[in-house]
Amino acid sequence: MTAEPDGPLTVLGIETSCDETAAAVVRRHPGGAPEILAEELFSQIDEHRPYAGVVPEIAARAHLDRLDGLTGRAMAAADLDFGALDGVAATAGPGLIGGVMVGATMGKAIAAAAGKPFLAVNHLEGHALSARMTGRVAFPFLLLLVSGGHCQLLLVQGVGRYRQLGTTVDDAVGEAFDKAARLLGLGYPGGPAIEAAAERARDPDRFDLPRPMRGRPGCDFSFSGLKTAVLHRLRALETPPTPDDAADMAAAFQEAVADALTERTGNGLRMAREREPALRRLVAAGGVAANRRLRRALEDLCAREGLDLSVPPQRYCTDNAAMIAWAGAERLALGLASPLDFAPRPRWPLESPEDSARTASDESAA
Ligand code: KG4
Ligand code: ZN
Repeated sequence: MTAEPDGPLTVLGIETSCDETAAAVVRRHPGGAPEILAEELFSQIDEHRPYAGVVPEIAARAHLDRLDGLTGRAMAAADLDFGALDGVAATAGPGLIGGVMVGATMGKAIAAAAGKPFLAVNHLEGHALSARMTGRVAFPFLLLLVSGGHCQLLLVQGVGRYRQLGTTVDDAVGEAFDKAARLLGLGYPGGPAIEAAAERARDPDRFDLPRPMRGRPGCDFSFSGLKTAVLHRLRALETPPTPDDAADMAAAFQEAVADALTERTGNGLRMAREREPALRRLVAAGGVAANRRLRRALEDLCAREGLDLSVPPQRYCTDNAAMIAWAGAERLALGLASPLDFAPRPRWPLESPEDSARTASDESAA
């Protein structure tokens, strides 16, 4: 393992894998203390709203239009020029490939022009390590990553040491929220709309929805059956759903999702403990981790299992560039720079041979 660097590492991070265009400058101090110097983010949500989902071509164009300006503003806010950086990190996958190419190409160009190391960051690694930027979380921990594109349980043992324990066999959980919200006429993005509607429910127990995968071994997830169940229950109503019907159904849906996620996470925890008996922490990240009903369910699980729960603040739970810069800085501290011909990847499982070949653990963070 490379020796701990004796000075701070300042890294520019770029994120363009989905519908957020973002640039941030983050510093890693010796020993691992994080400092976020600047961050700029443009959410394309209004551009995709008419389509009730992310349109790849619109996303790629918007990244292209905005990234330059955002990067310049982040560098200006950090009061740095490119020559003062120690590295340039960009999401190189997985994600919508047009957007990933925009960000990765920009990152490589800046790195090459400034003569700095380039760090190709796996977007999932950004989420996995974000809790170490916001909460100085030590390895190992179990990560529940719940977003519009992902639903996974990962054992995180060190930088570059990730083991996927379970994943969705169909929809990601955020996608399920978005689809259910569309069925209920609640708007986009669906997660916050369902959470708000559930709070208005008059009879949250009125609809009984299935708990997908309950009782099955392992910790894979499934959500498409739940969405179909919502559709069938709505069709069974005599009249088109009223706002009260939608609110009651939103509450039932949210309850079923929180239940299912918690049950699968319990199984994942047992699997993780077989490898890491001293595991003491659960981290939840991704846009869906903002859901308060889910958080309460995870808090209960952690209380029962003797675990600490970490959920990064909302803006670092959803897609952002600070987590990419931070993952880049953690890699740089271990001497793990990437070649400039690193090819962007639409698919890139976190647990790929390339990741596991470069192992490094670090128990130093408090
Ligand atoms: O992580 P994220 O911002 O973007 C990616 O998908 O990468 O996650 C967005 C997803 C959307 O599907 C959105 O509906 C969901 O997170 N979401 C929520 C909540 N806020 C956002 N789902 C449930 N409850 C919420 N409060
Ligand atoms: Zn994400």
